Amino acid sequence: MRILFIGDVVGRPGRSMVQDYLPKLRKKYRPSLTIVNGENAASGKGITEKIYKSFLEAGAQVVTLGNHAWARREIFSFIDDAKKLIRPINYPVGTPGKGTVSVNINGQEVVVINAMGRTFLADIDCPFRAVEEAVEEAKKRTPFVFVDFHAEVTSEKQAMGWFLDGKASAVIGTHTHVSTADDRILPGGTAYQSDVGMTGPYDGILGVEREAVLDKFLTAMPVKFEVAEGRTQLNGICIDLDDQTGKARSLQRIMINDDHPFYE
Ligand SMILES: [Fe+2]
Ligand SMILES: [Fe+2]
Repeated sequence: MRILFIGDVVGRPGRSMVQDYLPKLRKKYRPSLTIVNGENAASGKGITEKIYKSFLEAGAQVVTLGNHAWARREIFSFIDDAKKLIRPINYPVGTPGKGTVSVNINGQEVVVINAMGRTFLADIDCPFRAVEEAVEEAKKRTPFVFVDFHAEVTSEKQAMGWFLDGKASAVIGTHTHVSTADDRILPGGTAYQSDVGMTGPYDGILGVEREAVLDKFLTAMPVKFEVAEGRTQLNGICIDLDDQTGKARSLQRIMINDDHPFYE
């Protein structure tokens, strides 16, 4: 079992990178399952039904979200019908959508869970307890469980990794938009990376036009954030899982930009 995960797709530049490179990545790595985090896919915040479907058409089987899940009001009209779209599982009871999805890969079930940290983010339900319950439920049926942990701080992410070590196949972070060089396999067999990084503008600040971000830091005045233009990047990770145990056997960071070109 091999899982390809692509980090926070930001706006049109991010969507173009997915269209251009996902087919090439799928050809190179031959993943059994491809997952895309799409929380910033529509103009930098949120996702539309059209974009969700375009990711599926490009080869993704699951799309995850994060704190910007509700940024586009359109989400409320389609999330309950979007079978392969998940939002953080620890949003309070009554929130639209779901936080976990099962995918059938050649007769084997893979469960994908999306959760969100609480440090410097909304004070929602405990992600640890919510994920623990979902993982236990999934493990009754399958050894393959992938967790996208959308969180701000590395301490909370590492805590989730160790909390799920030996239980989930992979705990991969999203949200900070910066790829971290700590991809590893924890002793219990769980693939871990604090943040997979973003997909979209390469010369912005976390994908946002630099001038506006700098204005905010320099003046503290309210500013409007726009998706940056210009050069682009894609960040992801490819994880090999043991077909019997679901434990990670190897993992490889994927970084595509002008300084780290893609090789077929
Ligand atoms: Fe994001
Ligand atoms: Fe986020």
